[in-house]
Parts: sequence; C-alpha cells; structure tokens
Amino acid sequence: MANVDIRTCGINLDRWYVVARSTEVKDKPIAVNLWHQEIVLYRDETGQIQALEDRCPHRQVKLSSGRIVNDDLECAYHGWRFDLEGNCVTVPYLAANQKLPSCKIRNYPAWELDGFIWLFPGEKHLANSILPMGVPEWEHLNYIATVSVIECKGHYSYLIENLMDMYHGHLHDNYQAWASAELKDLYSDDDRVDAHYEAQSYYKIDKIWSISQLFFPGLRRLHPEPLDVSYIYPHWVSTLGQDFKIYCLFCPVNETYTRAYLIQFTSLNAFWRLHKLPVWFRRFVKDSLFGSAQKMLDGLVHQDVEMIEQEQLARLNRPELRNYELNPTIASVQRLIRQHA
Ligand code: FES
Ligand SMILES: [Fe+2]
Repeated sequence: MANVDIRTCGINLDRWYVVARSTEVKDKPIAVNLWHQEIVLYRDETGQIQALEDRCPHRQVKLSSGRIVNDDLECAYHGWRFDLEGNCVTVPYLAANQKLPSCKIRNYPAWELDGFIWLFPGEKHLANSILPMGVPEWEHLNYIATVSVIECKGHYSYLIENLMDMYHGHLHDNYQAWASAELKDLYSDDDRVDAHYEAQSYYKIDKIWSISQLFFPGLRRLHPEPLDVSYIYPHWVSTLGQDFKIYCLFCPVNETYTRAYLIQFTSLNAFWRLHKLPVWFRRFVKDSLFGSAQKMLDGLVHQDVEMIEQEQLARLNRPELRNYELNPTIASVQRLIRQHA
C-alpha cells in the first residue's frame, strides 16, 4: 500500500461523491463522469434524481443524447427505452416473434441533498449504511453561499493537498484570503485528517455592512483567527474564525482530471437582530446575497488550478523529480488517500 503511486491512486468507490449541482439537472438527461464511469442523470416524473450507466447496450452510444419518455430513458439512435432499474423495456421495431433483449444497464444510488447531486459508485448494498457528508449551511437562513466550479487537469491528490496546506496563502496575496498561517495541531484517523492553523484574517463580519469588506479592501483589518481545514474523505471542509466556512465537494474524473465544487459561506450568525425578522425576509436577504463572493472565489480557484495543473504537467514530463515537503499535513493526507484507494 505504501508504494502505491499517490499521483495515479484510485478512489474509494464506497463513498458518496458529488456529480452535479441540483440546478444542472432539469428536464433533459445530462452526462457526468466519475472515476472512469460515464453516468447519465435525469429526473423522473416525481422530480427525483435517477442515475444510469450512460451507455446504450444496443450499439454503445450515450443514452444522455436521448430523451426522457414518461420515466424511461429513450436512446436517440433507434429508440430503445430503459426503465429506472436499467432494464430494456421497449424496442420500437420488435417483431411479433422476437423477444425483448435481456440487456440491462447499471443503475446507481443517487441522492439530491443540500443543492447537489450525490452519487454512490460502489457496492450498492453499502449505500444505505454510508451517509453523504451533506452541506447543512446550504438551506440555513444565516448563511450566504457562493459556488465556484473547479475544473482541473490534475489528479485529485494535488487538489486536496492544495486545500490542506494553508501555507499557500502566498499565492492568493492579492485577494487577501488569509495570511501568516502556522500549523498548530494535526489529527488523523481512518476517515479524516484535521489540520488546525493559526492565521490572520482580513475580514470581520460583525455588522451588517461588514459584508462590504468582500468588495472594498480598504475596510479590511488583519486580525488573528483560527483556521481549521479537514479532509473528511473524500471531501473537504474548512472554517476561518466564526464568519467563514468553505466546502470542497469532490468528483475525481480520472488520473489526470478532477472536477469539484467549492462552496463558500459567509455567516450572518453575529446579527441577532436579523434573526427576529420574518422568515420570508431572511430568505430574501439570503437569496439576494447569493454569489456575493463570486469574483473572489473564482479568482482563488483560478490561481490554485494554475498551480495544480503545473504540478501535474511536471509530474508527467519529469516523473523522476522528487518534492521537498515541510508541512506534515501532506503526509497525513497521502496516507489517507492510499488507505482508501
Ligand atoms: S444504439 Fe441505442 S437504440 Fe440503438
Ligand atoms: Fe488556494
């Protein structure tokens, strides 16, 4: 296990991964890809998410090019139809003396939760005993969300290492995300790695107008805050002080491509006066401020992706080069990845 190459390591299939945002799945089938598996997502008549193998067994074309008819998925090519279980139920030109082919495609457990589509690619019977991590702040009225999609030509290990090594605040200096991180504590077990840093934050959200610090650098003041990052396999979550929480939900696609959703929450917990207002108004505030950190979050993602893609490229071109590592968090992260692969 120890000699498995971390940069080509597989994933633990018996976990819930995030393959799409809820809003991406409308009335047409959509194609997603999770660790070499092509999957088609669609909504049945009740609006529930269904996930099938994205492959017509007739001629191996993508079912996601087809359409939904009642609750069946119809292939675009010759119109064969498949039910929610993945059974072939209709061949439009079946002769009276012919039987339906007994071809069946795989169906996957899928779960719409907290604004995202979670999918379980592993042993089906385990899906009920392992829970998706979830994002409880998504519906909570006191949190304002911003979502950024990470599309990255790199192995997922580079991304999680980037997220766990807070010494890279250097890269984001112009965004003033955080500064002067110092690792204080490191914990790991079979399912997670927790790294506790002391850092300096530029933001303090204690008055309703402090949200404007997100847009006006002149309003920011450096002050110490705890910075906690956790790799809760296979996803990531972090908090900076009381005010910010960020999730990264992973969808590793293959050895050199990773998709992920970064969700940043700004907390309104400090404004107790706001909590006395009617729920409809609080929902209005939450919804109108959705995406308020978009520019910053996209900017951070862009910088990180650039570095990760360079790491991946260097690895492919010069695999003999070795890294020098000073942050013990990285060794813990790699141990967890290997253990689960
Ligand atoms: S390839 Fe799908 S129906 Fe023929
Ligand atoms: Fe970063």
